[in-house]
Amino acid sequence: MDRLTWSLVLTVTLLNGCMGSQSPSLHEASSTNQGSSAFDAIFSPPSPETIPGDQRGEQIRLGYQIVVRTQEYAKAYVGNALNCTNCHLDAGLDPNAASFVGLSRVYPEYRDRVGHAVSLADRINECFERNLNGKALPPDSSKLQAVVSYIEWLSQDVPTGSRIEWRGIPKIHPSRQPDPGSGKKVFTARCVFCHAADGQGGLIAPPLWGPRSYTIASGMARVSVAASFIKANMPRTRGWALSDDDAYDVAAYINSQPRPDFSGKAKDWPRGGKPPDVPY
Ligand code: HEC
Ligand code: HEC
Repeated sequence: MDRLTWSLVLTVTLLNGCMGSQSPSLHEASSTNQGSSAFDAIFSPPSPETIPGDQRGEQIRLGYQIVVRTQEYAKAYVGNALNCTNCHLDAGLDPNAASFVGLSRVYPEYRDRVGHAVSLADRINECFERNLNGKALPPDSSKLQAVVSYIEWLSQDVPTGSRIEWRGIPKIHPSRQPDPGSGKKVFTARCVFCHAADGQGGLIAPPLWGPRSYTIASGMARVSVAASFIKANMPRTRGWALSDDDAYDVAAYINSQPRPDFSGKAKDWPRGGKPPDVPY
């Protein structure tokens, strides 16, 4: 990796440190590991200088590349036009966009959607299948291990057993039923500039629907999740600009558009607990 890329990561990290304190603290506890006696961890991604110069360092750098340039570095496992960093913004360093910081402290973890405990590698593969419309990497794959190593490195300063308050996406709630018709107007006014009128993106932004976007079994295909992501992060670099209802309306519009199916969907939530806004 070149120095420029890493200093960019570092800059972004520092920036997020400042911005994080201004944004509302609405994250809901989502981990079963986080008991009431836990103490709050501080959002503390390590500085790139702490990447070791050995083989583990190589793995960490490769993991970073896979997250940022998934299309290039994990092409065989991707079936759409997205990269991990399109949703896990700034390579997983943005505390408002399902950050990777601290995650190696919470896995393995029981997940309702699959009905059993999953490792961090399993969870990464869920995103390959559902968000990249691709396929799972083999458990012994060095690329999969590289992403795990990158997330482990990002988590190294988060104490085991602490509460990771930034985990996930800050949740918002609508004051009324979301309206895709109003959402289309929000889309035209606030999103088309980068994502294009047909939602297919272009040079500056990724596709939001159609065969090149996330599948119906992605978390992002739930209106509540997309709305929360959009509220905190879109338009890109100008998060928190939309009202909660506008974020819900535009999320309802995007998620009413066609997108890839997911063949394993019938096996989801085998023990119940399916959220009401899952579109299948
Ligand atoms: C289309 C958007 C999208 C893409 C692309 C995507 N993800 Fe995700 N990912 C999500 C969402 C949404 C969640 C759930 C966040 C939450 O729990 O609120 C998630 C969750 C995760 C988690 C678990 C987070 C936690 O808090 O436990 C990991 C790890 C992860 N993704 C890794 C990846 C990796 C690695 C890639 C690329 C191979 C990737 N994701 C691509 C949207 C995406
Ligand atoms: C200034 C350009 C810009 C505008 C305006 C913008 N976005 Fe984005 N959007 C992006 C970029 C760039 C990414 C990918 C982020 C990255 O890789 O860092 C993205 C990612 C996304 C994603 C996750 C990835 C995907 O393709 O599904 C969603 C959902 C999204 N935008 C929705 C919206 C919505 C809804 C609006 C309007 C409220 C909007 N965006 C406005 C640039 C923009």
